[in-house]
Amino acid sequence: MPRPDWKRSSPENARRWDLPGCRVSGDPFHRHASSQRIGRRPSSPAARHGAGLIALVLALLAACLPAEAGDAAKPDAASVWRALFARPPTPPPAPADNPSTPGKVALGARLFADTRLSRNGERACVSCHRPELAFTDGRRRARGLSGAPLRRNTPSLWNLAWGKHYFWDGRAPSLEAQVVMPIAAPDEMDGDWPTILARLESDHDTAAAFRAVFGRAEPVSQANVAAALSAYVRSLVSPPTRFDAWIDGDAGALTAAELDGFRLFTGKGACVLCHVGWRFTDDKFHDIGLPGSDAGRALVAGGTAGLPAFKTPSLRELTRTAPYMHDGSLATLEAVVAHYAGGLRKRPSLAPSLRRDLRLTGEEKRNLVAFLRTLSH
Ligand code: HEC
Ligand code: HEC
Repeated sequence: MPRPDWKRSSPENARRWDLPGCRVSGDPFHRHASSQRIGRRPSSPAARHGAGLIALVLALLAACLPAEAGDAAKPDAASVWRALFARPPTPPPAPADNPSTPGKVALGARLFADTRLSRNGERACVSCHRPELAFTDGRRRARGLSGAPLRRNTPSLWNLAWGKHYFWDGRAPSLEAQVVMPIAAPDEMDGDWPTILARLESDHDTAAAFRAVFGRAEPVSQANVAAALSAYVRSLVSPPTRFDAWIDGDAGALTAAELDGFRLFTGKGACVLCHVGWRFTDDKFHDIGLPGSDAGRALVAGGTAGLPAFKTPSLRELTRTAPYMHDGSLATLEAVVAHYAGGLRKRPSLAPSLRRDLRLTGEEKRNLVAFLRTLSH
């Protein structure tokens, strides 16, 4: 087992790291490089160099965000941000062995709401992933069949086609692997495959829809249910927001307060080190210092042994996905910002880039939250 890299907690690394205006202090290069290496085999010098370079470039870019809202319209500044945050021009990617077709996506959408996939015929995916709540359920933690809370918060399903691993701890390597897990989980849908397939098969309409998508040879199968459901989940792309309009060059799309929040997000707050790209996630796992005993990624084979870490969630449509975090422990965006600015627990596994005392004024906190809200439609 590779030893987790905790060396970064040394005083040498506790230097303050503030990015006011265009001044960069501290050492974002090393911080970020080590953050990426947590719990992994020590990466090659070249890989480390790459990760560090990205962090350095991000920090420099952040420091150079125009000080005045109006400056954001400058083509040079806008093009820098567009490169980092522009939405992809292409449709969601799909694996070669499960290409997305309109028919398959439509069948998946039907199955997503189909209670026949649960043993008692009362639960479907949509029971917990409600479209009007960005496919979350508004609960702190999901409700199990027994009525008791499950161990984790229900995540949003937007933009997962671009994801790399699924669940808060990344234990599912693909959507095809993920979608069958809640069906079988005894406290989620408690489905039994022979029963499910017999139910779908005996329904003329449903069987015909499967035949139309998958052909005549054994169309109603577990693999095809998984293929259709994952094609549907892959089709869910969050709507463009005012932030996207600003990235596209509409300088008036964000208010001065929201732009200040973006400046904090990419600068002093350094949120961008993990929440990066148009989905606002690095698809990696970090410990952000929440209380609680869930070991997350540490429990997954090949995960971050010894380090309780969770997947960086996307920040799209946040205004609909409360409460926040893997355990739903933070009820509001204000509480999230308060957590990062002074509320996090310092422990050896804490992400290196969070090992500093971020202090924000009341106005800065409000502006950061105002910016986060611009990522929702
Ligand atoms: C009882 C509520 C519940 C039901 C029913 C349910 N889910 Fe979930 N879903 C969750 C929770 C909770 C998680 C996070 C669990 C974890 O990370 O350990 C999750 C995670 C996911 C993820 C991973 C998201 C990510 O960001 O990695 C996908 C995809 C997903 N569910 C799809 C489905 C599909 C498809 C169905 C129906 C077959 C379904 N879910 C049924 C509660 C539910
Ligand atoms: C070291 C990487 C890292 C940094 C830096 C970081 N985050 Fe996070 N963020 C995460 C991870 C990982 C989670 C999920 C943690 C969990 O549930 O255990 C998260 C969760 C969140 C959530 C909750 C989203 C949801 O759907 O539950 C919000 C909002 C958020 N972060 C905003 C921010 C802001 C604002 C900043 C800057 C002040 C920031 N983050 C800095 C990694 C990071």
